[in-house]
Amino acid sequence: MDAQELREAYVDFFIARGHKQIRSASLIPENDPTVLFTTAGMHPLVPYLLGEKHPEGKRLCDFQKCIRTGDIDEVGDASHLTFFEMLGNWSLGDYFKKESIEFSFDLLQTVLKIPIDHLAVTAFAGEGDIPKDIETAELWKSHGFKDDQIFFYGRNDNWWGPAGQTGPCGPDTEIFYDDGRKKCGPNCGPSCHCGKYTEIWNNVFMQYFKDNDGKFTTLKQQNVDTGMGLERALRIVNGVETVYDTSLFTGIIKKLEELSGKKYSDDIKAFRIISDHLRAATFMLGDGVVPAKIGQGYILRRLIRRASRYMSNIGIEGINMQKISEVIVNEYSPAYSELEKNKDSIYTQITAEEEKFHKTLRKGLRRFDEMLSENVDSKILDGERVFQLYDTYGFPVELTQELAAEKNLTVDLNDFNSRFKEHQDKSRAGADQIFKGGLADNSEETTKLHTATHLLNAALRNIVDPNIRQKGSNITAERLRFDFNFDRKLTLEELKALENYVNDAIKADIPVVCKEMNHDEAKTSGAIGVFESKYGEIVKVYSIGDISSELCGGPHVTHTGELEGFKILKEESSAAGVRRIKAVIGKF
Ligand code: SER
Repeated sequence: MDAQELREAYVDFFIARGHKQIRSASLIPENDPTVLFTTAGMHPLVPYLLGEKHPEGKRLCDFQKCIRTGDIDEVGDASHLTFFEMLGNWSLGDYFKKESIEFSFDLLQTVLKIPIDHLAVTAFAGEGDIPKDIETAELWKSHGFKDDQIFFYGRNDNWWGPAGQTGPCGPDTEIFYDDGRKKCGPNCGPSCHCGKYTEIWNNVFMQYFKDNDGKFTTLKQQNVDTGMGLERALRIVNGVETVYDTSLFTGIIKKLEELSGKKYSDDIKAFRIISDHLRAATFMLGDGVVPAKIGQGYILRRLIRRASRYMSNIGIEGINMQKISEVIVNEYSPAYSELEKNKDSIYTQITAEEEKFHKTLRKGLRRFDEMLSENVDSKILDGERVFQLYDTYGFPVELTQELAAEKNLTVDLNDFNSRFKEHQDKSRAGADQIFKGGLADNSEETTKLHTATHLLNAALRNIVDPNIRQKGSNITAERLRFDFNFDRKLTLEELKALENYVNDAIKADIPVVCKEMNHDEAKTSGAIGVFESKYGEIVKVYSIGDISSELCGGPHVTHTGELEGFKILKEESSAAGVRRIKAVIGKF
């Protein structure tokens, strides 16, 4: 089975069981620039897990491109990937444990064809107020699982979510492939890392909401959220040793062998890193990310630069990334047409960044030479300098070590490591912050601010310039933040006029109406919005009288009067050609 066959078989299986297929959403969460990337199939579905009605109904399935950046430096082993695909099916307040387990078991048997004695499952052991999930274990038993194939674990292993600080979550049952080797010890089980067990599927019974105080409340509806890693499933189905041995990587590795004149087996780690990073980079570029100093663009830059270093390690000199990217675009375009559509800009950007990095590297080498002359009295290159080479010039410590060794120097690895760790902790904490703010919360305040955002968008187009388009939107419980394309500062008069426009709409207490229609109808109706829909073929269009008509997942207030009033706090530049407005609502 190849990847496309597996995607289709998975989706067809669930369509035959009453599910509707939704499209893979962008890697960049729409309307929410504070979350860096889509990390699971459930991300785009958060509002619906919280009770918002999905236009395609209560049973959904898809394959979703995902990026997880927590372990970039660990990529290179047999299993870590930055980019991966998640196959998923959802019940939005429809079926629950019984059907979910039945569907999973059926698919494992009939599509993946994994013999039951090569499977193991886990269930929630109970913790705090949430009881042990006996029901799940019993359901697996009813399908023929023996006691020694069922493992109970606590919150660390058998609980999923929330993805941010607050949000939907619940106990899960995870499905593992057992390769049949002997247990490595008496406690060996699915949570052991010896390699005997590989997680392939996770069924989350999302029935709780974790709030800001860490309290769990029961959700309006009982949901099922499942996710199966496509690469891992493919690895198991095809009986190969690692995800890199699946057909998904064959073309990329072959191209690398051709360009380098080396074999994959000569430097497995380098081949894997280049393949993983350029796959992720190509997809990010395909979704409009460009290399930058912050945010998604920074991650993209890191991936391209790390790949570039490893390319040179295996002897690929010069500007060559596009050639690998071309293989990726060809491999994935049947499933992800955006790659074919955006291939010109993907190639231009990847080449530009590669060239830029080659220049930086040359500068770094010059800086290294300077350091040598600053450092004549010591046989050790200090941690601060080694870290500067890493941080500013992108030198991996191994490269610095090699260069230093040629000059009979050693590097202060301990000091470098502690600086490195401090830096990593800081950036992780930063990433956590981003994540916390990011995920949708459907509180009354954010719902109101969401409607206010639509009104502001309409006001900008009416009062300032009809060509204005949304470039980003972020809503917290306190304020809205709206980014739009415009190339100068707004005047005080314009800001006042925008406020008046929105306040007039609030005073008129206009009903906010949601209509479901198909994608093309929405487009011809003149609704604005991002038409690379993530909501499937049927979309929701929210209209506010004749002021605003926008493609959007919701939720919104029912009448504009609920907003009470609108005030702009700030107007500033956000990036070249992009302005940003922060505003609040309430009685003023
Ligand atoms: N959200 C869960 C996961 O990411 C199941 O889809 O594993």
